[in-house]
Amino acid sequence: MSTGRLDQLLAQLRAHATLPVDRAVLLPPATYTEPAILQLEREHIFAGEWICVGRTADVPDKGDYVTREVPSPHDDSLLSVILVRGDDAVVRVFSNVCVHRCATLLDGDGSTARITCPYHAWVYRLDGQCVAAPYMQHTSEADGSPFDPANHRLRELPTEVWEGFVFTSQSAAPAPLAPRIAGLTDEVARYRMSGYETVAGGTEVWDTNWKCLAENFLDAYHVFKVHRSTFAKESDSTGGTTVHPGGPGYTYHVAVDDPASAYGVAHLDNVVLEGTWRHSTVLAAVYPTLVVQLQPDWLWYLVLSPLGVGRVHIRWSLAVAPEVVASEMWSAGRDGDAYLTRILDLLAAVNAEDRPVIEGVWNALHHHDAARGPFSYLERNVFDIGRYIAARVTGIASD
Ligand code: FES
Ligand SMILES: [Fe+2]
Repeated sequence: MSTGRLDQLLAQLRAHATLPVDRAVLLPPATYTEPAILQLEREHIFAGEWICVGRTADVPDKGDYVTREVPSPHDDSLLSVILVRGDDAVVRVFSNVCVHRCATLLDGDGSTARITCPYHAWVYRLDGQCVAAPYMQHTSEADGSPFDPANHRLRELPTEVWEGFVFTSQSAAPAPLAPRIAGLTDEVARYRMSGYETVAGGTEVWDTNWKCLAENFLDAYHVFKVHRSTFAKESDSTGGTTVHPGGPGYTYHVAVDDPASAYGVAHLDNVVLEGTWRHSTVLAAVYPTLVVQLQPDWLWYLVLSPLGVGRVHIRWSLAVAPEVVASEMWSAGRDGDAYLTRILDLLAAVNAEDRPVIEGVWNALHHHDAARGPFSYLERNVFDIGRYIAARVTGIASD
């Protein structure tokens, strides 16, 4: 893209960032397809924003760890991080890089008392401190003093926990997340989702821009059409959906389901949720890359990482409310597995409905006829995240 065209696009985005909601439209198509915009997203969004790397429930016991990924601020790669619960029960996030010679320290998930590098066996405590390094007795530190493991630590990244989700940032001193999403906390705290138990998860790569997928997750308009064989099969909740404008770090809507639905309804042993909240689902984004479908019975969320303008890495997870896990519907030997299988089949079917549509959007965004028609009120959240992106990449909003 020539400098002149990029300047023109940025001027459009600057205008978009302050567009009133009654003029809501899609971001300019080049915002999705243009590598120069992805580079600005890296600099103004991924380099400093809070990125979700899992939930505290993923590492319930001391020594438990999972490896996750965050977008590189520089290129299309993903950077591996370790989420680990220390001997002191504190959850920390470290760059998954040995400070000796850059080996990747851990793969996958597991539990360990110490982190031992697979390359030359430097040993780290779970608070990141190096405590042993074999065959280093003849070595000096950079300042000439004798080598001492105490001088070496894994790089610890900032951590903030919100409603059981663990976030990290590649900025050394990011502005706190909680104040930016306080309005969302007020709405979702009633679900007590930090107590939901992780039961399944995985990764996928889809051929679309990461924003197309975030927008689709937040789009209350497409459900009655695209998901008429899944989410909208028993009843169409579109008319009962309340779309909220969100705040500086989030946006959301609430769909009220039929209380007789097979899912999206509180278990009888849930004595916390009241009234219509017993059969309401919150669909939310914590900017930039966490999208959440929070129900009284389970929680489905995605963390999105761009792998270029036209590919997105998706890490998804499913967690189930504790009273469901404790109930007869989950007990071993009864239909617990069938219940889980039913949810996973549903989510697979939902993905199979969404994927061709949003990969198709990605293709059409390249078209010289790519259009920007007016939004329905049900697309309010799509507009909200679009304005957030526009404000960030143009430097209008920053922390
Ligand atoms: S790279 Fe880890 S000990 Fe050498
Ligand atoms: Fe969808």
